Amino acid sequence: MAPTKVSKICCIGAGYVGGPTCAVIALKCPHIQVTIVDLNKSRIDAWNTPDFKLPIYEPGLEDVVRQCRGRNLFFSTDVDKGIQEADLIFVSVNTPTKKSGVGAGFAADLKYVESATRQIAAVATSSKIVVEKSTVPCRTAESMRTILEANSKPNCRFDILSNPEFLAEGTAINDLFKPDRVLIGSLQTEEGKEACEKLKEVYANWVDPTRILTVGLWSSELTKLAANAMLAQRISSINALSAICEATGANIDEVAYSIGFDSRIGPKFLKASVGFGGSCFQKDILNLVYLSESLHLKEVAEYWRQVVEMNEYQKRRFSKRVVDTLFNTITGKNIAVLGFAFKADTGDTRESASITLIRDFLKERANVSIYDPQVPHEQIWQDLEEACGDMGIEEIKSSVTLRPTALDATQCADALVIATEWKEFREGIDWQTVYDGMNKPAFVFDGRLILGLEEAERLRRIGFKVTVIGRGNGM
Ligand code: UDX
Ligand code: ADP
Repeated sequence: MAPTKVSKICCIGAGYVGGPTCAVIALKCPHIQVTIVDLNKSRIDAWNTPDFKLPIYEPGLEDVVRQCRGRNLFFSTDVDKGIQEADLIFVSVNTPTKKSGVGAGFAADLKYVESATRQIAAVATSSKIVVEKSTVPCRTAESMRTILEANSKPNCRFDILSNPEFLAEGTAINDLFKPDRVLIGSLQTEEGKEACEKLKEVYANWVDPTRILTVGLWSSELTKLAANAMLAQRISSINALSAICEATGANIDEVAYSIGFDSRIGPKFLKASVGFGGSCFQKDILNLVYLSESLHLKEVAEYWRQVVEMNEYQKRRFSKRVVDTLFNTITGKNIAVLGFAFKADTGDTRESASITLIRDFLKERANVSIYDPQVPHEQIWQDLEEACGDMGIEEIKSSVTLRPTALDATQCADALVIATEWKEFREGIDWQTVYDGMNKPAFVFDGRLILGLEEAERLRRIGFKVTVIGRGNGM
């Protein structure tokens, strides 16, 4: 029998998805004990620090953890105990893109999902609802079910659900408090529907029941890929248009604003940028491409692949514009890059456009100084080492400096590049002081549309040469 009522939840994986999601479940369901487990001891230690220096920067998260840690929210490395005690288990482990073997560069590496599932099968002594929470390609739940069923014991039943997470980093807590929808996929059997009801009851503690959608297992899994692919496609579409704007004198902000008034299109997610990043968009689209190819749907695969290619093109186009504007060479010049995270309000750097830009600048033999308000320095070095394959870390360090403030980063710079839309870049820069400290001519490249038309004009009056994505020169 499946557990009659969910009173203990275990989440395997204390990362960007598992951590905030289960912390919010603990906050909203004081009657449920929530234990988040991870193999990574330093990550668990950070979740448990007395001064709440959590391993993830996410606005509002610390407040949630302060309210329930030690009450009904626990962080532990004892994965087996977490599994044994729980009625319901979220599997929130990482599913990176495979680096080698079949499907390398496209397919998701499911080794972490598989090993977590095998561990559940090995140590569980009572029935469990197992919820797939990581982004995984269609039909992973089926593999999980096969592993669990092949290893089930008497009186130990496993029901599998898919419950993809739609939170966006930087707004995760708000997204979890007020989700557009919660999606639960189950087998359409009596047991499957019963398990689905139990998870629904957990969310119904704070989510309007009309926003809790229940669908089949495969639809739920595909929805996650589809939602991210559609969102990323919108950005690639607006970025493709930004290239036309730059060449014609149109202004991408005005175009986005105007098309957004069409209620069928809507105003959100139409901000042209130096390229989308984050752990999901590229990975999920490549999964979709791989899935389509596996299903012999070549044209479908090509269609989605182009969304990622347009994103690569946008990053290349931007770094080329920097080089072209600086009189076709940046060798030996100083470039200040403001922002390293893939978007504002997160310390996450996965697939950040900033990494690609800096790699391009280093290949052109420029000197780069970097400032980001949240990303730890070790993370920056690690990302650059990975991205600049043929350059050793010593060579990278001889051309890159990490600075404590935006102003520091711009001292003696020939060009300033805005790569992340942090609020302090939008509102907190004293442009005159920055200008005074830079080499002349002083160039500004706005890859995040933080400078409106008037702001750009003000900077030009100070003396800056300003280039903004999606606007022609001089706009
Ligand atoms: C995304 C999805 O939004 C979320 O639903 C899913 O659960 C995980 O993937 P996330 O990657 O955290 O969330 O952030 P998101 O706000 O979607 O931004 C992704 C990237 O697109 C960022 O680099 C962002 O700067 C960029 N972006 C976003 C744009 O360039 N323009 C936009 O208009 C919106
Ligand atoms: P996401 O953004 O999907 O949350 P993260 O990489 O931030 O991804 O987090 C995933 C976490 O899952 C990591 O902290 C990793 O150590 C953990 N993890 C992976 N496999 C296991 C496992 N078998 N048991 C426990 N934790 C695991």
